[in-house]
Amino acid sequence: MRAVVQHGTGGPEVLNVEDRPEPHRGEGEVLIRVEAIAVPFYETQLRSGLIPAGGEPSVFGHEAAGTVVEADDRSLVGRRVVTMSFTGGAYAEVVAASQYTLVPETVSAEHAVAAAVPASMAVALLRTANVVEGETVLVEAASGAIGGHLARLAGRRGARVIATAGKGKADADVVLDHNDPAWRKNVSEGIDVVFESIGGPRAAELTAKLAPRGRILAYGLLSGEFATFSVADLAARGLTLIGFGGLDAYAKDVAAARAEALDLVADGTLTPVIDRTYPLAEAAAAHARVESREGAGRVVLVP
Ligand SMILES: NC(=O)c1ccc[n+]([C@@H]2O[C@H](COP(=O)([O-])OP(=O)(O)OC[C@H]3O[C@@H](n4cnc5c(N)ncnc54)[C@H](OP(=O)(O)O)[C@@H]3O)[C@@H](O)[C@H]2O)c1
Repeated sequence: MRAVVQHGTGGPEVLNVEDRPEPHRGEGEVLIRVEAIAVPFYETQLRSGLIPAGGEPSVFGHEAAGTVVEADDRSLVGRRVVTMSFTGGAYAEVVAASQYTLVPETVSAEHAVAAAVPASMAVALLRTANVVEGETVLVEAASGAIGGHLARLAGRRGARVIATAGKGKADADVVLDHNDPAWRKNVSEGIDVVFESIGGPRAAELTAKLAPRGRILAYGLLSGEFATFSVADLAARGLTLIGFGGLDAYAKDVAAARAEALDLVADGTLTPVIDRTYPLAEAAAAHARVESREGAGRVVLVP
């Protein structure tokens, strides 16, 4: 099969298309003929080495959707599923997976892979923050997939949503341009919940904008590093800080939300946004597109 293999860290050119043996299905695993692969922003940071990964050259990628071609349970064969692997292997024509979620019949593979991880993150984040009607929430990077779904779902709960995005790339009650280094100064006071995904030392400036006993869900490092807050920052207003590791401590919550997230796509509550699709062989161009930040929505690879 054709697969995209990462050789070292660096620019998009470290991703090469190669012939690789098809994976063997282990016990309890299904074999999936891949139809669509997501290229989220964090994968560009893994590829460049900004987020350390390590290991030998291996098939890159984490999020794939496709059709089951082999399974212990014969009734699964022919069903469309989406899978998320922490250990890579998704940029390929065939993947083996032990964890997968059935995709509703009306949802395409592209939409399933564009939404499964980010929408389930949004559902689990919102649940953990326990956002209620009438609260004001700040959603960072609402032009991204997780942030976009968060803004939509928080709005549906009756929250007032302040969002950040590159120019004009989000839909919320108030949208601030996060490419302006001083954007945090323009956030109004009295925020109940911050969904923090940009990170970096300047995130602490937001503590002054939170209402007493406000909550911060810190889950991303789009700037290249997680946010830093001191206890003094938090104590002044009695804030709660939750470091939301959707791949770690909260992994079960996110995985448990996956089917619900896909149902929200199927019933039209959430609309996955696809920026562009590329053939698998153009994975390097797909990474360059994500890094350019010129588009909005998921870049998707199609084998
Ligand atoms: N905790 C977890 O388990 C977990 C799981 C998955 C993802 N994440 C994190 O969640 C975050 C968002 O992921 P996603 O999949 O929603 O992203 P995405 O859909 O790939 O979108 C990228 C977003 O990042 C913004 N962005 C990129 N660099 C930025 C910077 N330096 N400053 C501000 N904004 C920047 C872009 O904004 P514009 O182009 O509009 O400017 C766009 O909104 C990432 O940090 C990722 O690491 C965490």
